[in-house]
Amino acid sequence: MKIRLRRTNESDLDFVLGAEQSAENRIFVGAWTREQHRVAFDAKDLSHLIIETIEGKPVGYVILAGLADTNESIEFRRIVVTEKNQGYGKQALRQIKKLAFEELKAHRLWLDVKEENARARHIYKAEGFVAEGVLRDCLKIENGYESLFVMSMLRDEYESRFINKQPSLRIAAPEDAEEIAAVLAESFAEHESSYTAKAYAATVPTVDEIKQRFGEEKIWVALSSDEIVGTVSIIDKNKALYIRSMAILPEARGNRIGERLLKEIENYAVACNYQKLSLNTTPFLKRAIRLYKKFGFVRRGAGDLFGTPLLTMEKSLKSAAKFKREMKK
Ligand SMILES: CC(C)(COP(=O)(O)OP(=O)(O)OC[C@H]1O[C@@H](n2cnc3c(N)ncnc32)[C@H](O)[C@@H]1OP(=O)(O)O)[C@@H](O)C(=O)NCCC(=O)NCCS
Repeated sequence: MKIRLRRTNESDLDFVLGAEQSAENRIFVGAWTREQHRVAFDAKDLSHLIIETIEGKPVGYVILAGLADTNESIEFRRIVVTEKNQGYGKQALRQIKKLAFEELKAHRLWLDVKEENARARHIYKAEGFVAEGVLRDCLKIENGYESLFVMSMLRDEYESRFINKQPSLRIAAPEDAEEIAAVLAESFAEHESSYTAKAYAATVPTVDEIKQRFGEEKIWVALSSDEIVGTVSIIDKNKALYIRSMAILPEARGNRIGERLLKEIENYAVACNYQKLSLNTTPFLKRAIRLYKKFGFVRRGAGDLFGTPLLTMEKSLKSAAKFKREMKK
């Protein structure tokens, strides 16, 4: 399930304190009082964030420190995930790196982690943090001492590994259903008020509805840093290939992913001898219509989906198929 980060507020404090003080977490992270957390909300040098699912359920929190550091070195001070081993920690880390390097313009993002915290060290390493060294026996505990590993990532390491990379495209599998549903929900959310409730529900299918589609549809996904950022699906309609559920996450737009997904479908359609591509959209999805027109789709008619206006668009593939046949000769 996908997550997002938002600012922590007063009403989250019970959740934060509960997570921090629980037996499974307090051995690995420091503990603050309610007042220390509250002060952190407004501190210029800190960022206190809740990790929540797309449905708004809190599943953890994060504290960043050193936002005003003159060395541009931001400390990833604390992370606690309450529902472990579900991928929330890794996803949160990806968003934190993006926030630190792309929005807060950090040069270095660093953290310390207890030597025996194998799970945390595993995700930090997997997400590209480099071990800098060990602060040996630096923490006094009841029965002795503990050591801390210091790990960091530098801007150029982040940039070379995580950005400016063309997303890859692949055919989706049923295990992707949850992420695909989340991408559709996030991508259409800004237009929800333009749809009738029934039409919106049909546009943003549930995970189970997506799973059911796998029998009769072919679904593509676009991946960036291993996360699904775009999707599109096709259904066979005799001589036409019908395209639906095309969506690119807002933050991934502007990278020609939509065009690449359409090209992928067109290649598939030509190879399978389809004569046209067709799709339905709505007049208020202006960005999508611009893309379809640029790709050669033309308006063919209008309709209605549960009270929301529909627009049918088509692209003839006859000439493309002919060209392909001639090239083969
Ligand atoms: C550390 C923490 C933030 C990770 O969050 P999470 O949501 O559980 O992590 P994810 O589900 O994204 O990833 C867990 C990964 O750890 C691996 N893992 C689980 N237990 C492990 C262990 N004992 N040793 C090594 N790796 C382990 C999982 O296999 C998975 O890796 P994979 O996706 O490569 O298979 C969370 O477990 C937590 O809150 N722990 C307590 C507080 C804490 O330690 N904070 C960090 C302080 S520095």
